[in-house]
Amino acid sequence: MKTLVLIWVLLQMFSLCITFDANLTSETYTLSNSSNLAKPNCSNRCGDLIVPYPFGIGNDTNCSISHEFDIYCDNSVSPPRASITIADYSFIKHISDSRVRISNNVASKCYFTNGTVSTMFHVQENYTNFPYTFSDLNKFTVIGCDDFAWMISETRSKKVGTGCMAFCSTPEDARSDQCSGRGCCQSSIPQDLNYYTTNVRTMNDYQNMSNIRSFNPCTYAFIGEENVFTFKGATDLKDHSLWRKIEDNVPIVLDWAIGNLSCIDAKAMDAFACQSNSMCVNSTRETGGYRCICNEGYEGNPYLSPGCQGTI
Ligand SMILES: *[C@@H]1O[C@H](CO)[C@@H](O)[C@H](O)[C@H]1NC(C)=O
Ligand SMILES: *[C@@H]1O[C@H](CO)[C@@H](O)[C@H](O)[C@H]1NC(C)=O
Ligand SMILES: *[C@@H]1O[C@H](CO)[C@@H](O)[C@H](O)[C@H]1NC(C)=O
Ligand SMILES: *[C@@H]1O[C@H](CO)[C@@H](O)[C@H](O)[C@H]1NC(C)=O
Ligand SMILES: *[C@@H]1O[C@H](CO)[C@@H](O)[C@H](O)[C@H]1NC(C)=O
Ligand SMILES: *[C@@H]1O[C@H](CO)[C@@H](O)[C@H](O)[C@H]1NC(C)=O
Ligand SMILES: *[C@@H]1O[C@H](CO)[C@@H](O)[C@H](O)[C@H]1NC(C)=O
Ligand SMILES: *[C@@H]1O[C@H](CO)[C@@H](O)[C@H](O)[C@H]1NC(C)=O
Ligand SMILES: *[C@@H]1O[C@H](CO)[C@@H](O)[C@H](O)[C@H]1NC(C)=O
Ligand SMILES: *[C@@H]1O[C@H](CO)[C@@H](O)[C@H](O)[C@H]1NC(C)=O
Repeated sequence: MKTLVLIWVLLQMFSLCITFDANLTSETYTLSNSSNLAKPNCSNRCGDLIVPYPFGIGNDTNCSISHEFDIYCDNSVSPPRASITIADYSFIKHISDSRVRISNNVASKCYFTNGTVSTMFHVQENYTNFPYTFSDLNKFTVIGCDDFAWMISETRSKKVGTGCMAFCSTPEDARSDQCSGRGCCQSSIPQDLNYYTTNVRTMNDYQNMSNIRSFNPCTYAFIGEENVFTFKGATDLKDHSLWRKIEDNVPIVLDWAIGNLSCIDAKAMDAFACQSNSMCVNSTRETGGYRCICNEGYEGNPYLSPGCQGTI
């Protein structure tokens, strides 16, 4: 009987943890599904991408809540591409109530079979002065057989970074679905970054490079959504165009929030963004900021006048 009670208590605790966890990680899409998408006379689409207010298309068109929420839409390409800055290589794939997903940029280093470097690309992403930080849904991933790579973020006041190394001496060392140091390694990224640069280095630990480079011509390093990337072992190691597959399929997740004030401080200001029938939630990031959510039983765009509307 005691054991049964104990099991019951454990089960209750476990299920509590699950619901709590599910709420923390659950992502909502009420903004881009709302009928009140954009300000009057403002476009709410760039190709297939829905751009809900507080975001807005154009440079200083007054369509966004403030300049840093402006989205650039390049209609000269087909399909049209939206980006955060005009010169950004990454394009926006999706905007949710708390996150923006953008296409990836992969750092790479490729080798001739004798081990000398044939091509090399560094990556730098800089969203300083924008409302974005790199989400903890991302991981830093390195794919290669004799390499280490790192990312670093340096401001005047602090320097943070992470990195890892990956080895393998035969293609069989690398296992599909396992990114644990054999041909693939992963690390968590520091919180609240809005800038990073990546680097790839060769370890030169193997005497006979032609052995390794015959099944692993390139090393790749990128920050991207963990749940979307699956390492395919030897297939990925020998793939010359893996970088393109990652850039097409594994997004970088950015968290967004309004400003850098908490709800209480923002409410005291003139420019408080949350309209009628909505509530304010503090952003969880160190850099502050808040977001608005429609009250229960109301729907619409909480940032746009007249606010959220009753659903009955
Ligand atoms: C989780 O969210 C659901 C609906 O969004 C809500 O009904 C539930 O009370 C929440 N649970 C916790 C622990 O906050
Ligand atoms: C509308 O909401 C659903 C889930 O609630 C989401 O999967 C979908 O992506 C949303 N539509 C847009 C355009 O964001
Ligand atoms: C929208 O554009 C039309 C035509 O250009 C103009 O008459 C109207 O005043 C504009 N509305 C707003 C809210 O700017
Ligand atoms: C945006 O417009 C401002 C003037 O309002 C201009 O100074 C700036 O160069 C423009 N930026 C881009 C990326 O076009
Ligand atoms: C944006 O709004 C400001 C202030 O309300 C105004 O001075 C400016 O002309 C507007 N710009 C556009 C492109 O409508
Ligand atoms: C390695 O191979 C490349 C391409 O065949 C060649 O250009 C380079 O000189 C070689 N390097 C060495 C150190 O042998
Ligand atoms: C990042 O962008 C900001 C603002 O545009 C700029 O001041 C800063 O120098 C950039 N940082 C780096 C390392 O390029
Ligand atoms: C290096 O590996 C290649 C291919 O497996 C082989 O042909 C060559 O003899 C090896 N060289 C040395 C010095 O072991
Ligand atoms: C918060 O944002 C305001 C306005 O953009 C800026 O002037 C201020 O320096 C920011 N404060 C911090 C701590 O970043
Ligand atoms: C938001 O953050 C402020 C300042 O950290 C805090 O005083 C306030 O209680 C928070 N509000 C909520 C709803 O958590």
